[in-house]
Amino acid sequence: MKLMEKIWSKAKEDKKKIVLAEGEEERTLQACEKIIKEGIANLILVGNEKVIKEKASKLGVSLNGAEIVDPETSDKLKAYADAFYELRKKKGITPEKADKIVRDPIYFATMMVKLGDADGLVSGAVHTTGDLLRPGLQIVKTAPGTSVVSSTFIMEVPNCEYGDNGVLLFADCAVNPCPDSDQLASIAISTAETAKNLCGMDPKVAMLSFSTKGSAKHELVDKVRNAVEIAKKAKPDLSLDGELQLDASIVEKVASLKAPGSEVAGKANVLVFPDLQAGNIGYKLVQRFAKADAIGPVCQGFAKPINDLSRGCNSDDIVNVVAVTAVQAQAQK
Ligand code: ACO
Repeated sequence: MKLMEKIWSKAKEDKKKIVLAEGEEERTLQACEKIIKEGIANLILVGNEKVIKEKASKLGVSLNGAEIVDPETSDKLKAYADAFYELRKKKGITPEKADKIVRDPIYFATMMVKLGDADGLVSGAVHTTGDLLRPGLQIVKTAPGTSVVSSTFIMEVPNCEYGDNGVLLFADCAVNPCPDSDQLASIAISTAETAKNLCGMDPKVAMLSFSTKGSAKHELVDKVRNAVEIAKKAKPDLSLDGELQLDASIVEKVASLKAPGSEVAGKANVLVFPDLQAGNIGYKLVQRFAKADAIGPVCQGFAKPINDLSRGCNSDDIVNVVAVTAVQAQAQK
């Protein structure tokens, strides 16, 4: 069974309520029909009811079973505005500004998640990553014990012996441009949790660099070495090692030469890149050259799950991201 099928099955076992902030968007409506038909999640669509229903009828899509909520007419608007004001008054938000901001569908949907009216949020078919994540960072914030929200791509590489038969998690490829050592350690720990909770994997985390175990000396290498120390101290039972080059991380023969005795080298299934440039370029290289499936970016580290879509996504991608979000919500019980 492919990984996404397993995630679908898991989502169906304990259905969660996921809010889709771009409820008027066509691919979202097509996905909505499929999600309900498959029983992957209960859905809330945010938007104008008339517009949503007209679009659905034009597309020939059934929305039976989905709840539609319009921020402008919702009886929760005032409660959300008041709660948002309380959360952000120290940042200069006034009650008037709060009332205006929470009418924005993404802010409104984020407040639904914050106040427990939804278990998770998916958006981003139209909005940028920043448009979606900023409200989440301001309102939902990080899970206890986690210093940063980050992201991972689940890579499924066909005909590949590396990782778990070609399945590897790459992080961070979408959120933190220049993580410091503390943040890198937090990204590594969050990604190991995603590997375990979402993918059912036994994580073996490689902290990537252009150096293996001191083969090069540079401040960029020191950043990764420090992150390894911090992560090991925080999670002594986690299988994590570094700094490691990519080949030493995944190829047993190279590992035996460059990092003998490492419990991770040669067997890594979680690859933590030193910064966003490396991570974003790295996942796209594997996706294009190896024709790999790249599931994500899966956001991790939020107190409640929020996930971003690519603006180039299709309706099947949205179904998959909703399934991922629903399974993340199950883990947060
Ligand atoms: N984790 C936790 N909190 C964070 C994080 C983080 N990673 N980043 C910012 N915050 C907090 C800040 O502390 C701040 O909190 P406060 O307002 O309560 O004090 C709040 O979030 C907003 O912070 P800003 O610095 O104003 O947020 P910014 O405008 O920098 O946006 C964002 C954050 C959107 C994540 C930004 O870092 C970003 O744009 N990252 C790159 C996204 C991107 O373009 N990725 C590539 C494309 S995606 C792809 O290819 C798949």
